[in-house]
Amino acid sequence: MRTQVVIIGSGPAGLLLGQLLHKSGIDTIILEQKPKDYVLGRIRAGVLEQGTVALIEEAGAGVRMRHEGLVHDGTEIEFGGIRHRIDFKGLTGKSVIIYGQTEVTRDLMDVREACGAPTVYEALDVGIRDIESESPSVRWSADGKKFAIDCDYVVGCDGFHGVSRQTIPANRLRTYERAYPFGWLGILVEKPPVSEELIYVNHERGFALCSMRSRTRSRYYLQCPIEEHAEDWTDGQFWEELTRRLDPQAVSKLQTGPSIEKSLAPLRSFVAEPMRFGRLFLAGDAAHIVPPTGAKGLNLAASDVGILSRALIELYKTNSDAGLDSYSQRALARIWKAERFSWQMTQLLHLVPDASGFDRKLQAAGLEYLFKSTAAQTALAENYVGLPY
Ligand code: APR
Ligand code: PHB
Repeated sequence: MRTQVVIIGSGPAGLLLGQLLHKSGIDTIILEQKPKDYVLGRIRAGVLEQGTVALIEEAGAGVRMRHEGLVHDGTEIEFGGIRHRIDFKGLTGKSVIIYGQTEVTRDLMDVREACGAPTVYEALDVGIRDIESESPSVRWSADGKKFAIDCDYVVGCDGFHGVSRQTIPANRLRTYERAYPFGWLGILVEKPPVSEELIYVNHERGFALCSMRSRTRSRYYLQCPIEEHAEDWTDGQFWEELTRRLDPQAVSKLQTGPSIEKSLAPLRSFVAEPMRFGRLFLAGDAAHIVPPTGAKGLNLAASDVGILSRALIELYKTNSDAGLDSYSQRALARIWKAERFSWQMTQLLHLVPDASGFDRKLQAAGLEYLFKSTAAQTALAENYVGLPY
């Protein structure tokens, strides 16, 4: 068996890359270790930058997103019980689209299936061979049988725990990491959201976020200690704690109900450099993680894929590998800015367990400055709607 590009992982990064390459006549195979339904069952963020929207459309998977996605021109940040609006549209001319990552994944899977491009689900023991040579290959097993495919390039879109990054010798990779001593407990509920826009809340009991997936489905988060487990929280306890952290107007609009999904995610910042080893390229969570506070995870995966797909298309069309040679450096320049923004939003909005009185005063000063300064709001808005690439 032979193909041009083997993509490992069918999350949004792998699927988007597969479609962008397919549109340019480049053959791919996607190897995914989990069953399709498992991939579609994962609930993640749902804020799309315009650049991400443009790439999904370019991939031919934008019809439902355009139809069902909610355009948000701003967001609210609450501190001391008072909400302040950040006007993305007024400050930057740009908006974001609220459309769940699960839906993005489903739409990309549908267009891939419609065009007949191959995806192997439940591909186990994926192994990358001869990646420093001109003819790498990838092996895997499925249904108790072993398979192998030769290729020109391998792209690791297999998330933080995937095999691709681990294939790179430790002395060829530098990693940077920050773990945060708290997590986000998320709940999905079939009820209308409390407000038209998202509300990020800095409360003395901890951070909270009111988000949504549609006009009838809401997503809420609570900052909680990292040691806790989602199963330890009943729905009733969740609503009670959320109510404590929201302002009275939000509480009056809050419609509670049984959770459809409940999960606890740790917060982490992580970057691996460079994002290339021989003919292996890393994209998305395989190379970097951001805490969810600025909703950058999916958008960064999309910008990596935007840059990498153009480089691969250039290679196959003109035989120039200039784009591939600069991929890592170009992608990382954007990634570090998003890392900084996500870290800063996290610092600004959470109750940091071991923060000193001095730290808390600085946090309050940062928020008060933000609410008073158009320059500070513009900086936040510009980052939130997405830096150019
Ligand atoms: N072999 C094959 N597939 C694998 C392997 C492996 N060894 N390891 C992991 N995978 C698969 C996972 O099952 C998953 O479906 O790779 C996929 C990686 O998908 P994501 O984790 O969604 O990562 P990515 O596509 O980079 O998307 C980034 O998703 O995780 C969120 O916050 C993140 O929003 C961001 C976005
Ligand atoms: C979400 O809706 O899941 C969400 C929204 C905004 C964030 C993080 C998560 O910053």
